[in-house]
Amino acid sequence: MSLRVMLPVCLVLFLSGCGGGDQPNVELVQGMMEDPGYKTQERDSNSPTGSSMRLPPEGTVPRGFQPYAFKGDPEGASQELKNPRVNDRSPGWIARGQKRYEVYCGLCHGQLGRGDGAVGLKMPLQPPSLVGDRARGLSDGLIYHIISDGQGVMGSYANQVAPEDRWAVVSYIRNLQTLTKGR
Ligand code: HEC
Repeated sequence: MSLRVMLPVCLVLFLSGCGGGDQPNVELVQGMMEDPGYKTQERDSNSPTGSSMRLPPEGTVPRGFQPYAFKGDPEGASQELKNPRVNDRSPGWIARGQKRYEVYCGLCHGQLGRGDGAVGLKMPLQPPSLVGDRARGLSDGLIYHIISDGQGVMGSYANQVAPEDRWAVVSYIRNLQTLTKGR
């Protein structure tokens, strides 16, 4: 490119860079500065789903997501899942389980696991005691599984209780069983 062409081109580029103050910049590449704005949950007639929210590409998972290997398989879970901190009754570990238990489980199963939580008492099917003989006989893996996948009318708490915290809840229930006489 000759100097006679370059100079005016440079001049235009230079000047267009100095919009200055409250003047909008000269838009050399059209359509880069304006995007179609959508309000929250507004319809988008150009989208195949009609929604302005974009679906994540198929097969993508949230960061840190671990698929649960024993979905719908309580027996497999009961046999194969082992509590990594089975005999840990250290105050920190038990307190961690207690915190989750009291938020997510106690309302139904009772804060001491006796099956007498305020919500549980109003349910047509009463939540079972977690300190009775039956619950004492459940393996750690099965209790972990019930938290992860639910059982019967009890839903899954996988979204509320992180995988490692579920083991802390299991240890907390074992601790309650040791402290409480079954009924
Ligand atoms: C909304 C009330 C509710 C909440 C909250 C709840 N459960 Fe349950 N849970 C139930 C009911 C009802 C059952 C009986 C389900 C069935 O077998 O149909 C049950 C069953 C169980 C069992 C099996 C007991 C047995 O004898 O078979 C375990 C273990 C258990 N829940 C643990 C938990 C833990 C741990 C949490 C907290 C993460 C929790 N549950 C939260 C209502 C609840």
